[in-house]
Amino acid sequence: MKHSSIGIVAVGSYIPTRRVSNDELSRIVDTTDQWIREHTGIEARHIAPEQMATSDMAVLATENLLQAYQIDRSAIGAIIVATATQDFLGFPSTACVVQHKMGLNNIPAFDLAAGCTGFIYAVEVAKGLLLANSVNSVLVIGSEKLSAIANWDDRNTCVLFGDGAGAVLVAKAENSSSLIDSVLHAEGNGFSHLMVPKGGTSAPYEQEDELSVLKLQMNGRAVYNFAVRAITDVIENLLMRNGITIDEVDWIVPHQANSRIIKSAAKRLGIEEKKFYMNIAEYANTSAASIPIALAEMEQKKVLLKGMLVLTVGFGAGLTYGGNLIRW
Ligand code: ACO
Repeated sequence: MKHSSIGIVAVGSYIPTRRVSNDELSRIVDTTDQWIREHTGIEARHIAPEQMATSDMAVLATENLLQAYQIDRSAIGAIIVATATQDFLGFPSTACVVQHKMGLNNIPAFDLAAGCTGFIYAVEVAKGLLLANSVNSVLVIGSEKLSAIANWDDRNTCVLFGDGAGAVLVAKAENSSSLIDSVLHAEGNGFSHLMVPKGGTSAPYEQEDELSVLKLQMNGRAVYNFAVRAITDVIENLLMRNGITIDEVDWIVPHQANSRIIKSAAKRLGIEEKKFYMNIAEYANTSAASIPIALAEMEQKKVLLKGMLVLTVGFGAGLTYGGNLIRW
């Protein structure tokens, strides 16, 4: 097995306090609690206040991490924000806003856009920066305000998403967890299955357009089928190239998009469902934030213990997919 002394040394998260149950949602869009539970496993989502930006949630997740591990903010050597819901459209990056709000100066800060796989990509990029000796530590944040780009008139999509942020500090450290291996993929030929169709340079927003073209649109069935295949692929690949069996893995932490996707992948792989950590019922799909939120929750519940072998797996817009193998 490949070994590295670069690992995740701290985790934190922020979940907005406002909880919106399926029943509450069914009062604004034509859906039911039963449909959402049966088709997705979602029971609620948390929605950020209107004035709270993606960067604000990122900062709150980071403050949570620093406080829990008694780390001084000056220990942060770089910031990567994985997000599909930036504060601004490209100028500036959300990471620079986070740097400013954290009172940190001069350290590198940039966003990473890989849809819901963003956190997984960012962890591997952080490892690369550390291996190159560019910096001493990297704060990797997944932060999303999906409520801002959800079409609240479209029951096919709006019921699926929530807001939140999770953060990890990646560093070279003795006795830390170890980022053993990652697989990263993208199938650009599926880019149109999950997109905000207008507002960018490819299709600028025009005056006569409906506002819905600035909201998330999804080909749910195509994404579903892709997701099951992607999860299966990543898990098989990470096990094979590291010469380990599934029995040696303590937890699989999947991107939380739909519990049926996880159940299908588990069945296909012959892995017991309880090995997959699931919290989609409470938070719905928080895109790039879902895996770090899950890791922080697992730490807090003391079900993620030092020395455990953890496999993260994600998929999303792009279409991207990938996973990290981590010794905790
Ligand atoms: N409430 C009630 N009915 C609904 C709702 C809703 N919220 N949404 C859809 N329906 C209806 C549809 O209109 C359809 O009705 P019709 O047959 O009369 O047309 C019916 O339910 C069944 O629709 P399906 O698309 O077959 O439903 P399915 O069981 O496939 O579930 C879903 C749809 C949940 C979107 C599923 O396809 C899915 O999870 N896809 C993947 C989505 C995903 O993971 N996206 C994100 C990945 S990347 C990222 O995280 C950003």
